[in-house]
Amino acid sequence: MIDVLLGLQWGDEGKGKIVDYLASKYDIIARFQGGPNAGHTLYVDGKKIVLHTIPSGVFQDHCLNLIGNGVVIDPVTLLKEIENILPLKADMLKRLFISSRAHLILPTHRALDAASEASKGSEKIGSTLKGIGPAYMDKTGRNGLRVGDILSKDFQDKYDKLTRKHLEILGQYEHTIDWKQWEKPFFESVEYLRTLQIVNGEYWLDKHIRNGKNILAEGAQGSMLDIDFGTYPFVTSSNTIAAGVCNGLGVAPSRIGEVYGISKAYCTRVGGGPFPTELNDETGEALRKAGNEFGATTGRPRRCGWIDLVALRYAVMLSGVTKLILTKADVLDSFDPVKVAIAYKDGSGETNELPYDLCSTDVEPVYKVFKGWEKPISECKNYEELPQVFKDYCHFVEKYLEIQIAYISNGTGREQLLMIP
Ligand code: GDP
Ligand code: IMO
Ligand code: MG
Repeated sequence: MIDVLLGLQWGDEGKGKIVDYLASKYDIIARFQGGPNAGHTLYVDGKKIVLHTIPSGVFQDHCLNLIGNGVVIDPVTLLKEIENILPLKADMLKRLFISSRAHLILPTHRALDAASEASKGSEKIGSTLKGIGPAYMDKTGRNGLRVGDILSKDFQDKYDKLTRKHLEILGQYEHTIDWKQWEKPFFESVEYLRTLQIVNGEYWLDKHIRNGKNILAEGAQGSMLDIDFGTYPFVTSSNTIAAGVCNGLGVAPSRIGEVYGISKAYCTRVGGGPFPTELNDETGEALRKAGNEFGATTGRPRRCGWIDLVALRYAVMLSGVTKLILTKADVLDSFDPVKVAIAYKDGSGETNELPYDLCSTDVEPVYKVFKGWEKPISECKNYEELPQVFKDYCHFVEKYLEIQIAYISNGTGREQLLMIP
């Protein structure tokens, strides 16, 4: 069986930290979608590490790590990550496997991303500019280059052909970008990529599942950024929900076990697009400060607001989440009151369903209000020590979402995690 861990909001829920912790219970961690747009933060022996493409199991000595076929890989970013990790985990390359079916991000994909965003002006998505959208477009357009292609003799020809196509498109944009400077590091990194363990990920996983290994699929981004069900067009270009595990790794739905969904105790979003519970005031600013809400990949300030149970229930439904993990509960320690959105009000009344197009529907959240907690959660060592008001808040969330909270995270460290009985 393969368990899943994914974000339920607009990303940055703390997936990296939780996967790093849970990895002690798994033999294999496998990334199934996204690419270097992801930034998963973990602290290893007090040192901050941000992972973009490499699964967050890499710091657990026994763990094998697979970059699945659903991921788009920028060889340059991958090489940089490896160079960062190697001094800390000398054996990491022996434990890293890459699916031959994963698609490559070319320098011109990054140029296309930048040109497309610049042409949108104020309507821009707020992309991380890592070339994600254009790379997935080439995948579905059946033009893409895959990791397996780098092993073929005519890789350069394939690269030249696709790049020529990109240049024609780039010629239609006003925006110009010096993408040629990215070519040399790209080919050097491709050379390096050839030396890594490239496997048929679906057979590789099947073999391990048959041998009774415990596998955890690690999501990137969050459910509200899903290409089908997120706040389109302000989304990423992959399926971030549990369904993405099946086609992003080549595992059958019947092999999916537990689905862990992660949510912050409040909510953030980075980039453009609707965010009903956003706080454009001093409370939002205080959340950003208390939660240190700045993007792990781009450094951009994250937009902050209250937790949105309407959107969360939608995400829980889409992925069949079986266990909830609530992160950054400690960030709310200094807030009084604490609000929880339970419905949306629009022109026609109140609803607890997410509208088809949040971008063009004006909704006003309806809040349930909790008093601030009577003592700091950051200091609690177990469930019993948690303040009663916070326990009431948790029970309310559980009842609304109809799932149990399995863990509460109350700090950045691996061990700052309370198991809920
Ligand atoms: P990811 O993309 O889901 O892996 O999340 P990010 O790493 O982008 O952002 C989460 C941020 O919150 C990181 O800086 C983490 O170190 C931090 N973090 C994770 N869990 C907690 C927590 O429980 N409390 C606090 N204060 N910070 C946390
Ligand atoms: P992790 O895995 C938060 C957002 C971008 C932008 C939109 C599209 O760290 O949670 P893209 O580069 O995919 O074309 O950007 O999606 N976005 C993320 N936001 N966390 C992420 O990943 C994100 N990956 C992409 O900010 O709004
Ligand atoms: Mg992140």
